[in-house]
Amino acid sequence: MSPISRRDLLSSGLALSTSSLLARSAWARTAALLGGAPETGSAAAIAPREQLLFDFGWKFQFGNGADPARDLGFGNNQESFAKTGDFRFARVGYDDSKWRSLNLPHDWAVELPFVWDDTLAPHGYKPLGRRYPDTSVGWYRREFDIPARDAGRRIAVEFDGAFRDVLVFVNGCFIGRNDNGYAPFRFDITDFLAIGQKNCVVARVDATFGDGWFYEGAGLYRHVWLTKSDPLHLGQWESWARADVKGDTAALSLGAIVANEGKDADSAAVSWQILDAAGKNVATAEAPAQQIAVDGSASFEATATIDHPALWSVETPNLYTAIVTVRTGDKVRDAERITFGLRTARFDADHGFFLNGKPLKIQGTCNHQDHAGVGAALPDRLQAFRIGVLQQMMGCNAVRTSHNMPTPELVEACDRMGMMMMCETRQMSSSPEGMAQLEVMIKRYRNSPSIIIWSIGNEEWRLQGEDAEEGAKIAATMVRRCHELDPTRVVGAAVNGDNEKGDSDALDVIGFNYGLNRPDGYHKEHPTRPIYGSETASTISTRGCYETDPLRNTLSAYDVNHTVWSQLAEEWWTFYATREWEAGGFAWTGFDYRGEPTPYGWPSINSQFGIVDTCGFPKDNFFYYKSWWTKEPVLHLFPHWTWEGREGEEIPVWVHSNLDEVELFLNGKSLGRQKVPRLGHLEWKVRYETGAIEAQGWKDGKLVLTEKRETTGPIASLRLTADRTAIDADGQDVVVLTVDALDSAGRALPTAQNMINFKVTGEGALIGVGNGDPNCHESDKEPRRSLFNGLAQVIVQSTKNAGTIALEASTVVRDKTVAPAKIEIATKRVELRPTVA
Ligand code: GAL
Repeated sequence: MSPISRRDLLSSGLALSTSSLLARSAWARTAALLGGAPETGSAAAIAPREQLLFDFGWKFQFGNGADPARDLGFGNNQESFAKTGDFRFARVGYDDSKWRSLNLPHDWAVELPFVWDDTLAPHGYKPLGRRYPDTSVGWYRREFDIPARDAGRRIAVEFDGAFRDVLVFVNGCFIGRNDNGYAPFRFDITDFLAIGQKNCVVARVDATFGDGWFYEGAGLYRHVWLTKSDPLHLGQWESWARADVKGDTAALSLGAIVANEGKDADSAAVSWQILDAAGKNVATAEAPAQQIAVDGSASFEATATIDHPALWSVETPNLYTAIVTVRTGDKVRDAERITFGLRTARFDADHGFFLNGKPLKIQGTCNHQDHAGVGAALPDRLQAFRIGVLQQMMGCNAVRTSHNMPTPELVEACDRMGMMMMCETRQMSSSPEGMAQLEVMIKRYRNSPSIIIWSIGNEEWRLQGEDAEEGAKIAATMVRRCHELDPTRVVGAAVNGDNEKGDSDALDVIGFNYGLNRPDGYHKEHPTRPIYGSETASTISTRGCYETDPLRNTLSAYDVNHTVWSQLAEEWWTFYATREWEAGGFAWTGFDYRGEPTPYGWPSINSQFGIVDTCGFPKDNFFYYKSWWTKEPVLHLFPHWTWEGREGEEIPVWVHSNLDEVELFLNGKSLGRQKVPRLGHLEWKVRYETGAIEAQGWKDGKLVLTEKRETTGPIASLRLTADRTAIDADGQDVVVLTVDALDSAGRALPTAQNMINFKVTGEGALIGVGNGDPNCHESDKEPRRSLFNGLAQVIVQSTKNAGTIALEASTVVRDKTVAPAKIEIATKRVELRPTVA
């Protein structure tokens, strides 16, 4: 059989796409095209792989971390694992009618109330842990069909990651466990399944123990899949495509591993078909057939050349697809698509980082996976939304997945959007568990062009201090394994304190966390070692607040506050921008995140390090970065000009801009023109009077931009703004909406705190609300939220029916009519990803 072509795919109604959604939905169709329609259970008719989304139709209920009687009897008499097959709750027909119905991804922590217990501060005051057994264990249950045609296939349940310790049961049998919060895991459950019948899978998820000092969520917060394949199949994440780009050609080396889980020795040959972004076949390669013993595996390698390659870069994130196909004779046994990019990336000790031979400063941010309204359970679209806020609006060109292996859809968004990535494993350890986590991360993501650095860990003080000798050995083992699995990328780590000994010894690129007094000396002493800022800034500010007030737990949004170990935005970026040998750095953090409330504790429930808040609403420093991270003309004037009761007082007025000069006016009167200092900002002191301040920005003697802040009147109406006017009717896509309040002249009210009620009708459901207030204890899930300094966010998810979502936002103000806001979002019919029935 010939390999599938672009035409075949299109004629089957399927456009090739680099997006994960389409790539995944393309999958079953590809499989069907490759192998023909699966029919009976005979070996000859076994279809190639299907990857089915296992997110819909779960049942959930809390268990209990202390009392077996409230934990489905699990743990009774210390005999839980006495038998493999005695778990009634995992048998078909067990009564779960009182359990709650939900879809994945799901984070139950974000649904819990806040509890004032200082031991809970790191995780955002959510009642998880040994003192909170009632809310620390969750049970997920799902009955599903395995059709008769699946006889003879290998079937596995795959979790992209879960928080945290998971026990999995199928059809009454205990299957296995996974004990970390971020690495994906899978179980082959073929022997446990009833073919042609209903089956049942159960996962007990225990978030009693956390990994991090930041909010991590709880539950099945990433996708789950059911994968079905021929017994002769590609190894999971064993296919790779590497490119050596020279001049106008890319020499590809391709590899794959095929495993034989059949009953007889079998023969396999592997071929690769390389498609460009338009789906055009640009190269093919083959590796000859090998005999593979039962329970054995074989490696296959081949080479190919791409002429005139379309390189992947931050401006043009071109992607290629390799269709990797396993055949026995003419028969297709398995196939998969991998997405990769062609680019060169190089760190130089004297000149910093180079992408495709051109110098490129890393303008990075560190981020945790946590968003307003949804916690750690991000719908795929939110990954792209967040990358968009950082990149398209601010000019950030790299993210660090602190401090753990990321969710696949984040990496895919970065590949697709041209955002570079430092991909970090959770544990700096060469223990079997540490190495397993590292290996899975590299195998899973080594084809992703966005990744420019593997990070083997963060701030392991002991491994660079009193246990430095061990640190050096541990890091050397990890770095060696990184190079074996991926000879194309450098390995770094986020090191705070001492880069002279310990884990730094083994690194290809030396990461510095904070401490601007260290890199100059280190560079002088070690002139051949490339250096970058693995973590910088930790500047702290509250969106829309212009006073630091420890009684209210707020921090001024002027660039004036940082923790004792960190720097202002302007300080760290000036340092990195003015040293050619610094490859750039990653600011802590792009987004505010729950937990680690700094510098204040309760009632603050989230961090204030973000350049944007937990919703993605920019704080003023955002425009400092935008000024120096983009080439766009920027003129940002702040604060707002609504200061009732402060008439006659001096108000500091700042401008972030990358223009030549800025002139400020108060009610039409010039307060002077100033030159913009490179990498700096401008300040005036203005005696407050109502009216307007206006900034005029000049470049090359021309007026380029003006910005005005006006004193606003009372609330008159609400406004809703959506990030998109149409979304996919796939039950997963989301629209992100901003609500703000306007006065009678249509001006946004910068300090409004009104409670807004939301009503969603039609083909969507509200899945979360937020306002970015680090001190707000309102529910993330109720259909209401107060504005925080004028803004709130609503996230609405589509159903699987095409149609319209209508959202109404209203508020009640005494003695006043406030016009509600209404908006409609279209939901479009799309090809659905194949799901488990
Ligand atoms: C760093 C740490 C981060 C975060 C940050 C806050 O030391 O790596 O995870 O805690 O401090 O400033």
